[in-house]
Amino acid sequence: MPSVTRPDGFSIGPIRIDPPLLLAPMEDVSSLPFRLLAKRIARPGLMFTEFVSAMAIHYGAQKTFKKMRIHPDERPLGIQIFGGDPEIMAQTARIAEEMGADLVDINMGCWVPKVCKTGSGAALLKDPDTAARIVDAVVRSVKVPVTVKVRAGWDWSLFAAPDLARRFQDAGAQMITLHARFAKQGFEGEANWDLIRAMRDAVRVPLVGNGDVKTAADARRMLDETGCDGVMVGRAAISNPWQLAQIRAGVTGEPAPALPTIEERVAVSIEHAELQVAYEAGVETFGEARDRSDFADAEVRAIRSLRGQLPLYIKGEVGAAQLRARLTNANTVDEVREILDGFLDSLRAPVG
Ligand SMILES: Cc1cc2nc3c(=O)[nH]c(=O)nc-3n(C[C@H](O)[C@H](O)[C@H](O)COP(=O)(O)O)c2cc1C
Repeated sequence: MPSVTRPDGFSIGPIRIDPPLLLAPMEDVSSLPFRLLAKRIARPGLMFTEFVSAMAIHYGAQKTFKKMRIHPDERPLGIQIFGGDPEIMAQTARIAEEMGADLVDINMGCWVPKVCKTGSGAALLKDPDTAARIVDAVVRSVKVPVTVKVRAGWDWSLFAAPDLARRFQDAGAQMITLHARFAKQGFEGEANWDLIRAMRDAVRVPLVGNGDVKTAADARRMLDETGCDGVMVGRAAISNPWQLAQIRAGVTGEPAPALPTIEERVAVSIEHAELQVAYEAGVETFGEARDRSDFADAEVRAIRSLRGQLPLYIKGEVGAAQLRARLTNANTVDEVREILDGFLDSLRAPVG
């Protein structure tokens, strides 16, 4: 089937999403530092914050407010919020708008028990009336567009997303993203893209497909086979914004960019570590962070928060597996740099 998707994107209200490639919201991953790097390297058409708890904002949790910080270079950006109470969600959406969100996205896909047991995330797929009331309340509370990210339904017995999406559209939602798995699946099995195709005619608003896009060819195939307007990528981009850039080429039809050298991977991983320290310290640059009295605490918090991500930057390289434990135990940028510089030296050392 020839593609009908426009490689130059689509619009959500006044916002142009070009290219139609979206970086997924990912808890503890899509923080400001990673988004800035992903934007510079892959230039996706839209990115999102990790999900922000409406309840935590309601109770004034400073750590949660920080997740809503936005840098002008990353626009357009959606702040994603989750919660089960329409009024508290509406309040949080207003705060997200004040923080500068270009749009507010509502999470109805998170399947983990700590979220679902509060009636939030994917639990809303089982409660269409509350779900629709939340969308309605959020839409009424802000001027920016409101979008919703769903899974196909709670379990296989009910493909709830098409009916829900129609109701959300009627309530004013301006884009729907479908992660093509049921909540009960967690991340098991493969995403079923037939569900995206089956959703296509359910809504007039842009439909974004999500689930298991790992390569440029996957992205092209998702666009061609499902008729979705855009592709959202999550796991393939973690510690690998260059893969997101490859996928971008699949979406736009542009030539694939050169793959990064190992030196580039290392340099960006160290930059990520430095930006994360700045983020934890509440400033823009590592230099500013170093001047603060709480630098040491911020640095340890930042480097620990990247424990899972730093080793992935060099995954697959000879000798990378042996460095994993050392990177995981690092507490400072200097330690990270020393480990990675040593790794580069070992690659350059003559063999034998
Ligand atoms: C580490 C991690 C954190 C995630 N956090 C969120 C989140 O905060 N909000 C959300 O809507 N989805 C979240 N997701 C789901 C992703 O946005 C996406 O729907 C899912 O990973 C499927 O896409 P993929 O196959 O491209 O990874 C998360 C996924 C991962 C792997």
